[in-house]
Amino acid sequence: MSNADDLKRQAAAKALDLVEPGMRLGLGTGSTAAHFVDLLGQRVVQGLEVLCVPTSERTRAQAQSRGIPLAEFDALPELDLTVDGTDEFDPHLRLIKGGGGALLREKIVAAASHRMVVITDASKAVARLGRFPLPVEVNRFGLDATRRLILREAARAGCEGPLSLRGGDKGAPFVTDGGHYIIDCAFGAIPAPEDLAARLIAIPGVVEHGLFIGYARAVISAGSQGIEIFGSLG
Ligand code: A5P
Repeated sequence: MSNADDLKRQAAAKALDLVEPGMRLGLGTGSTAAHFVDLLGQRVVQGLEVLCVPTSERTRAQAQSRGIPLAEFDALPELDLTVDGTDEFDPHLRLIKGGGGALLREKIVAAASHRMVVITDASKAVARLGRFPLPVEVNRFGLDATRRLILREAARAGCEGPLSLRGGDKGAPFVTDGGHYIIDCAFGAIPAPEDLAARLIAIPGVVEHGLFIGYARAVISAGSQGIEIFGSLG
C-alpha cells in the first residue's frame, strides 16, 4: 500500500468508529471511500447490522461484493451518516468533489443525511478552493451553450481558466451514472465559492456542481503527524 493509500485507510478506520449498529449509512465514492466500504464489510461479516445507500454504481458493486446490505434509496430516504472522500477541503469545510464523477449522487445522498463526515489524506487541505479543477455535471443537450454560460458566470464570480469536457472510454466523453457529461473547470482559485455555486446552479444546463458548501460536519484528515479532525464528529 502506498503512503497516501495508507493515510486514506487510517482516515477511513477513524470514521468506522462512528458507525453504530442499526445505522442507515450513505457510502461515498472514490479510493478513500473504498477503504471505508472495505473496512465496513469486515465489520458486517463479524455481525454488524447496518443498511446502506451507495453513491455510485461502482460503490454499489464493491459493497455487494463485501456482503454489505443495501437499500433502495427511495425506501430509505433519510440516513444517519454519510462517509465520503473529497478532492479538496478548506478551513470552512467547504469541499470540491466529483473527481470520480459521482458528485450528483454524492450530493443527493449527503443532503439526505443527518451527518456527512469526510475522510481524506492531508494533501487535500487547501487554504483556498480551486487548485483541483471544479467538476460541473451538465445535461448533454446544449453542451456548448452551457459551457459558454459557465464561462460567463464564473467570470462574474471572479473565476477564470480553461474548461474541458471530461473524457471517458475509447475517446468518448465520460458519462455519469445519471447519464450526463462533466465539464472540469480549471480555475486555479475560487475566491467566492458561495457566489460561484449560486451562479452555476442557476444555469439550466447545469445539473449539479462539485462545490459542497454546508454539507460536511467534520473532516477526518490523516497525515504523517497523525489524524486531525476539523469540525465536529458528534
Ligand atoms: C467522487 O466523485 C469524488 O467526489 C470523490 O469523493 C473524490 O474524488 C475523492 O476521491 P479519492 O478518495 O479517490 O481521492
